This record gives sequence, structure tokens and C-alpha cells, in this order.
Amino acid sequence: MTHFDIRRYRREDFHALAALYFSAKGDEFRFEPNGFERFPVIPLPFDESRLKAFSDCEALLMIGDAEPVGVIYWRESHIVGLLVDPAVRGKGVGRALMTAALAQMGESVTLAVVASNVPVIRLYQSLRFHGVGRRQGYYQGVAVTLLEMARGPIG
Ligand SMILES: CC(C)(COP(=O)(O)OP(=O)(O)OC[C@H]1O[C@@H](n2cnc3c(N)ncnc32)[C@H](O)[C@@H]1OP(=O)(O)O)[C@@H](O)C(=O)NCCC(=O)NCCS
Repeated sequence: MTHFDIRRYRREDFHALAALYFSAKGDEFRFEPNGFERFPVIPLPFDESRLKAFSDCEALLMIGDAEPVGVIYWRESHIVGLLVDPAVRGKGVGRALMTAALAQMGESVTLAVVASNVPVIRLYQSLRFHGVGRRQGYYQGVAVTLLEMARGPIG
């Protein structure tokens, strides 16, 4: 049985993180028309702006059988990325990473999600996030509608 553990990201994890990113990132667009064709994933080491964004973030990894199988990264009060290896999805890894990150962040947290990614929007709603607006975002120059979400204080 797989044993899961959450720990802080370390510099020496970068190779495994890049592999995880490449296997999971494209699924953010899976509900977009022709999503996989229109949004081919650029590997993180070659994606200058996302690599820079990641390097400015704090990150937690989920380790399963000694390998990173999930990552969440954030900067200040904004969650920048949440990625889970397709092989271990649906086992609570994404929710556990969100819960662990939220415990380290302040009460007011924001994120932006591809608006068609309804399953993950439901996950965020169950963690007290709500939609606060829509805007056009870009992945490698291709426009995509993003839903901005915020998590307010309790009560
Ligand atoms: C979104 C993602 C991180 C979820 O990871 P996961 O480990 O499979 O999620 P969990 O098993 O913790 O599921 C959490 C909730 O998400 C929802 N969910 C996750 N995958 C789902 C699916 N395929 N269909 C329907 N609901 C789903 C469920 O509501 C689930 O709720 P539950 O805890 O009450 O069962 C993962 O699918 C992923 O990496 N996707 C590609 C990248 C992405 O879209 N990231 C979000 C960027 S904002």
C-alpha cells in the first residue's frame, strides 16, 4: 500500500517536480474545446515565466512511495499551482495538499482556475472558496477564461 507524506519542497526535488508538472499540467485545460491540442504543455525548465513564478513560491510536496506525487505552491496569499500525478488522483492527495497549504497561509487566500475545470472548482468551493470574477488569462499566448476565487474569513 502506498504511504503518503507531506513535506516542504527542496531544491533537489526539482527534477521530480518537473516530471510531475509535465504529467499533470495539461489536465488543467482538459475541459476546454480541443484542450490538449490547443494547450500543449511546455516543460517547466523551458517555461521561463512559470519557472520564475515557481521559484518565487513556497511549496509543499506529497510524497508517495518515496516519489513526489503532488505539489501545491503559493506566493503570499495566492495559490499559484496544484498538481497531482494522474496515477494517484481521486485518493484525496489534492484535498490534503490544499488543507496543508491553507493551514500555513493567512485567512484570506486567492487563486485563479480555468473556468471550465468544474471538478476542481467544486473542490475549492468545499474549502470555502467562492468566485469573485472572471478574466482572460493566457497559456503560451492562447487565451483561456479564468475564474478568480477567494477564501474569506470564517463567519
Ligand atoms: C485537480 C487535482 C489537483 C485534484 O487532485 P486529486 O488528488 O485527484 O483530488 P482529490 O482526490 O483530493 O479530490 C478532491 C475533490 O476534487 C473533486 N474531484 C477531483 N477529481 C475529480 C474528477 N475527476 N471528477 C469529479 N470530481 C473530482 C472531488 O470533488 C473531490 O472531492 P471529495 O474529496 O469530496 O471526494 C488533479 O486532478 C490535477 O492535478 N488536475 C490537473 C491540474 C489542475 O487542474 N490543477 C488545478 C489548478 S487550479
